[in-house]
Amino acid sequence: MEQEKVDLVIRGGTVVSPSSSIKADVAISGQKISAVSSQGILPRAEHEIDAEGLYVLPGAIDSHVHFREPGYAYKEDWATGTAAAACGGTTSVFEMPNTNPPTGTLEALALKQECASRQAHVDYGIYGLLDENNIENLEALIENGVSGFKCFMGNTFGNLPAPSDGAILEGFEILSRHGYRCTVHAENPSIMARRQARMEAAGRTDTLAHLAARPEVCAVEAVGRAVAFAEWTGARLHIAHKSSKDALYILKDAKARGVDVTVETCPHYLLMSTDDTDRLGGQMRVNPPIREPGHAEALWEGLHDGTIDMIATDHAPHQPEEKDSKNIWECDCGFPGVETQMPIMLTQVNQGRLSLQQYVKWSAHAPAHAWGCYPNKGVIQAGSDADIAIVDMGSGSMIDREMLHSKSKMTVWHGFQTSASVEWTLVRGAVVVEKGVLVGKQGHGKPVQQNMPTPAPRNQDKSMEEIVKIRF
Ligand code: DOR
Ligand code: ZN
Repeated sequence: MEQEKVDLVIRGGTVVSPSSSIKADVAISGQKISAVSSQGILPRAEHEIDAEGLYVLPGAIDSHVHFREPGYAYKEDWATGTAAAACGGTTSVFEMPNTNPPTGTLEALALKQECASRQAHVDYGIYGLLDENNIENLEALIENGVSGFKCFMGNTFGNLPAPSDGAILEGFEILSRHGYRCTVHAENPSIMARRQARMEAAGRTDTLAHLAARPEVCAVEAVGRAVAFAEWTGARLHIAHKSSKDALYILKDAKARGVDVTVETCPHYLLMSTDDTDRLGGQMRVNPPIREPGHAEALWEGLHDGTIDMIATDHAPHQPEEKDSKNIWECDCGFPGVETQMPIMLTQVNQGRLSLQQYVKWSAHAPAHAWGCYPNKGVIQAGSDADIAIVDMGSGSMIDREMLHSKSKMTVWHGFQTSASVEWTLVRGAVVVEKGVLVGKQGHGKPVQQNMPTPAPRNQDKSMEEIVKIRF
C-alpha cells in the first residue's frame, strides 16, 4: 500500500491528552494528523518543527468570544479577534450573537458568515440568538449553519431584552428536537434592573455598585430556571461564565440526574476578586461581576469535581474611552481574553493548581465534546484535525496590552507575569503562528464541523407545536 505523504512532522515534543503525557512525534498530512509515533520512527518530512523541550497540546476551543462584527467593528473584527485567538493557542472559537444586527435572522447570519469566512485565521462556530421574537427563525438558523444558540436571560452589552419564560421554553422545545445546545447568560434581569435604578437614583456611581446590582441570587435563580426548562424539554444547555459558588449545587444535582448541561468559567473568575477593584476600577466591570474573595476557590473545586466542564474567555473587547469613566454605569462591560487565556492558565499549571492533562481536558477536550466536534477536534490522534498549540512551559513574560492582537488593549491582565508561552499554533495542518509570530492568512478559518449526539426531546406532547393543533 502506498504511504500517505507526510507534509509536516512535529518532532521531539511531549504530546498531552487528558489521560497521558508522552514523548511522541506527530505527523501531519494535509489538514489531518496522520500518525502519533514513538520518537525517532517517522521518516523526515519536508517541513519539520523542532519541539524538543516543548509540549504539544490540542489547540484550545473557546466556547465564548465576542468578535463584534457586523456592527461594532471598531471594537474588534473577525481578522483581529481570530488573530488574537491564534496567537493564544486557540484554534476554534464560538462567537456570540450580540452584534448589530444580532444574529437572530437569516440575513444577520449571512452577514456574519461573510465576515467570518473572509477574515478568520482559526476555525469558528457562530451562535444564533434565541429571543422573544425569533422563535420561528430557529429551525432556519439551524439549517443555515449556526453551531448553537445563545439566550441572554440577563442584559449585557448590546442590551438585547431578555426573552419571556414562555419564549425560552418554546425555543428549548424546538432546539431539543434538533439536539442543539443553548448557551445561557444566566442572570435574573428584573432584580438587576430594579437594583441598578435604585442605586443610580441614590447617586451611587462607584465601581462596586455594579456588583451590588447583580448579587449571586440573580444567577441562582436564572441557572435554576434554565435547568428546569432544559430538563423538561430535553434541550442541551450550556451555562456561560460561571462566576459564583452559589449555583454550583444546582448544576451538580442536575448533572447527577442526567441533564445534559455543560458549564464554563473564565480565568478572571478563577484568579481575580474584589480585592482587585482599587487597582482596576471600571476596567474590571464585566457581566457577571467578579465577586468577593472565596468564590474563586469554589470554582476551582467545581472544575476539579466535574461540576464545571471547561474554561472559556468571554473575550469582550471595548475601546479605552468606553471603559474609562469614574461613573461605573458608563463603563462598557467586559474585556479581551482569548489571547491571554492559555499563557495564564499554563502559569497556573506551573504553580500546581491543575495538571497539564487537566488543562487539556478543560480547554479542548470538554468543549469539543460539548459542541459535537470530538474526535475531529480536541485531541491529538491519527485522523483528527491538526489543530495544535505547541507551548513552552519554561518561558514567560509580562503581559503587555500593546502586544495584543485584539483591537482592544483594555485587558485586566496588563502587567500579569506568566511563566509559559505559546510558540506555535497550527489550524488544520497550516502553521498560523510560528515562534510566537502570526504568519497565517485571513480566510484560512472554516466553520467547525459538528456531529451532535442524537436528540433526546422530552414532553413533546405538551409542547407549543402540539397544543396549537386543532382538535375536535
Ligand atoms: O461583560 C460582558 N460583556 N459580559 C457579557 O456577557 C457580554 C460581554 C460583551 O458582549 O461585551
Ligand atoms: Zn459574553
